[in-house]
Amino acid sequence: MAILQKEDGSKLTDLQSIVQELAPLGITLNYWSIGDNPQLHQLLAQDSLNDTEKETVLSHLDHYFKELSERAGYTSRDLIVLHPEVPNLDTMLSKFDKVHTHADDEVRYIVAGEGIFGFVRPDGSQVELTVQPQEYINVPAGTQHWFILTPAQRVKAVRYFCGTTGWVPEYTDIKIRVGREVVSV
Ligand SMILES: [Fe+2]
Repeated sequence: MAILQKEDGSKLTDLQSIVQELAPLGITLNYWSIGDNPQLHQLLAQDSLNDTEKETVLSHLDHYFKELSERAGYTSRDLIVLHPEVPNLDTMLSKFDKVHTHADDEVRYIVAGEGIFGFVRPDGSQVELTVQPQEYINVPAGTQHWFILTPAQRVKAVRYFCGTTGWVPEYTDIKIRVGREVVSV
């Protein structure tokens, strides 16, 4: 289940309370079951997946993609698989660990592992949301956010896209406060 950490260090784990805290940002956070197909579960338990295996995982979950396509015009999806042995993992992650926005919504369905989305709320306060398996998140276009992995550095997530543009991060120069050690000098 998702965990929301606020700047004062307090944490929320109840989905309804988390949804309420994120409401000013227009973020959608839903529970989406991955079902009980044994082949899917076996693939999700592997560290790395080849292209064929990724496509098999996606095909098991394409009823969600179909629904998004029909309801909101989504045109493509892929599966991102990150773990500590992925070459240049840190370089890849460093693009997204600073506060940024996108011209399109950032839509993710976490199917294994976990990741942390940070957000700057309209009042300037910051929160960090740990998103866990079977959780779908839609971060609206223009939302100031960042993304990092937890210390395990493992996540498998389906990414949904409306088009090929709008995906470049626009950095906003805001300093991240939440979730960081405060060093006093
Ligand atoms: Fe992003």
